[in-house]
Amino acid sequence: MTRRPFVCGNWKMHTGSQTAVSLALDVSEGAAAHSAVEVAIAPPFPWLENVARRLRDGPVSVAAQNCHFEEKGAFTGEVSPGMLRDAGCTHVIVGHSERRTLFGEDDSLVSRKVAAVLAASLRPILCVGETLEEREAGSTMDVVGRQVQKGLGKVELVELPLVTIAYEPVWAIGTGRTATPEQAQEVHAAIREIICSLGGEDAGSSMRIQYGGSVKAANARELMSMKDVDGALVGGASLDAFEFTEIIAAAAENA
Ligand code: 13P
Repeated sequence: MTRRPFVCGNWKMHTGSQTAVSLALDVSEGAAAHSAVEVAIAPPFPWLENVARRLRDGPVSVAAQNCHFEEKGAFTGEVSPGMLRDAGCTHVIVGHSERRTLFGEDDSLVSRKVAAVLAASLRPILCVGETLEEREAGSTMDVVGRQVQKGLGKVELVELPLVTIAYEPVWAIGTGRTATPEQAQEVHAAIREIICSLGGEDAGSSMRIQYGGSVKAANARELMSMKDVDGALVGGASLDAFEFTEIIAAAAENA
């Protein structure tokens, strides 16, 4: 099964209203040469609608970095999946490790968000990954397996193909310390096994599993050449259109 590589830029809490638009347009121009790759960017909430409008009909989709699981209500400061769809988003990143560690999101909350994203006809990017202590204790697959199973706990089997999983080892995020291609491959293959057992061979072999954690132009090619690495969720390097386009080009080579 060939899987279309998927590269998403997670801008986190960076950019202003002007830089968001110019960066988005530069990424769009860069992505245009690599139609074999699905490309998305995830700007901060306030810029989503404007960026999505500027990118309409282009090669780059717009993702949100988070959402609430309810459609509406008295949830001060929160944003619902339906609002994100109205703003022009097609994807939502859910369960990022920064949300889990800094904002107390647990697997049960993450699973409700994944289900809410799908209910709003959007596509979740479910983030999973172990901490350094967990890796050193030899519990990487216990942790990642649990996050995958629980995160997908409320997903109907027919919806599984709409989900992307992003494996982001916490110790590799923003540290400059990337997982080796072999370390990434090992966890990606195990995640795919879990999807096969949950939803069958087709679901498992078609699911895109991105790697995230200090991905740069210099290491993207090697990571994405691994059999089960189907793209990247990129933080810091996605704030530079040239660098991000190089990562898209690396994904295209492996398409
Ligand atoms: P960095 O690429 O900056 O390590 O961030 C990875 C990440 O958290 C993407 O979601």
